[in-house]
Amino acid sequence: MTRILLLNGPNLNLLGLREPEVYGRETLADIVNDLLSFAAERDVELSDFQSNSEGELVTAIHGARETVDGIVINPGAYTHYSIAIRDAISGVALPVVETHLSNIHAREPFRKESVLSAVCVGVVAGFGRHSYFVALDALLRHLAHEPK
Ligand code: DQA
Repeated sequence: MTRILLLNGPNLNLLGLREPEVYGRETLADIVNDLLSFAAERDVELSDFQSNSEGELVTAIHGARETVDGIVINPGAYTHYSIAIRDAISGVALPVVETHLSNIHAREPFRKESVLSAVCVGVVAGFGRHSYFVALDALLRHLAHEPK
């Protein structure tokens, strides 16, 4: 069975309340519930973790090394400056898909840069809640077709 870890970074626990015109009105729990069904239909074991702390996300990525086949991560604002998360991703050598609800390229200039994209297998941004499903689907296709 394929095992995937879903990671969400800072402020994503406020989904639904936080800038709903940008991030939508659904809570993270709503999205995760639908992702769990999406995963189960594909015989995929999905675990999820949200943290507002950079160190906890780094530790979760380290833990993933032995326990999952790949990671879908919405790193929130850490996308734009966390070298620690970048190093954790390259350190574990797992396929990681960087995921954003909003189109980070159509927003403030500081959001256009990601220090993580270069160590991820791909990036999905701009499709709201659908970004997570597209990212998970793309990761499963990658795992099925790319040599490890
Ligand atoms: C985000 C985009 C980031 O720039 C922002 O800091 C977030 C959410 C997104 O999902 O669109 O917290 O990752």
